[in-house]
Amino acid sequence: MTQDELKALVGQAAIAYVQPGSVVGVGTGSTVNHFIDALAKMPVRVAGAVSSSVQSTERLRKHGIAVLEAGDVTGLGVYVDGADEIDGQGCMIKGGGAALTREKIVADLADRFVCIADESKKVDVLGRFPLPVEVIQMAVPQVMRRFAAMGAQPAVRPGVLTDNGHPIVDVRGLSIADPVALEREINQWPGVVCVGIFARHRADVCLLGTATGVQTLAYDRT
Ligand code: 5RP
Repeated sequence: MTQDELKALVGQAAIAYVQPGSVVGVGTGSTVNHFIDALAKMPVRVAGAVSSSVQSTERLRKHGIAVLEAGDVTGLGVYVDGADEIDGQGCMIKGGGAALTREKIVADLADRFVCIADESKKVDVLGRFPLPVEVIQMAVPQVMRRFAAMGAQPAVRPGVLTDNGHPIVDVRGLSIADPVALEREINQWPGVVCVGIFARHRADVCLLGTATGVQTLAYDRT
């Protein structure tokens, strides 16, 4: 199976976690695009979606699925999103599609985070994928110096501004042994809007697309 076929498989499998008639949290990316297409085919559709990006909003609306603002809901049953990496505890690196800040906001509303990913995303230790960090422009040199002082190699993602109008710094050379601590630390640096470590908002379940089918990995969040 191709990587895209594996993404389609898990995008469709995630429908089992969606309550018909509910409002669902929707992430961003090529795997989520398959999930959105599957949402549109549900026999009893969702009442609407809270979206994490302009890209997902446009796709949802094209399928006639109502898009609500995050502020219109007080909670969501489930949030479905992809990942760039996921470790054995359900901690993730996200933000390859530059939607990390809104993804974290919508994930925070949900009782359950269902990660959908092809098997290439599963890692023992986070950090092979360059860590995306959304940063206010003024603070970019300062934040990059902090990463360099840690021995990492930060670089501004060329030609990219997020839906919030900020640049992304991608950081190579980090081996993230303690994702909770590093997420907390980077979040405190002035000018950082959001770091793409999802440890506090880690997955409850990962539907992993493999050559032999969908593998369901459940994580203990306590
Ligand atoms: C976007 C993300 C995506 O979930 C992540 O980049 C995975 O994308 P894809 O499903 O295209 O592989 O975090 O900001």
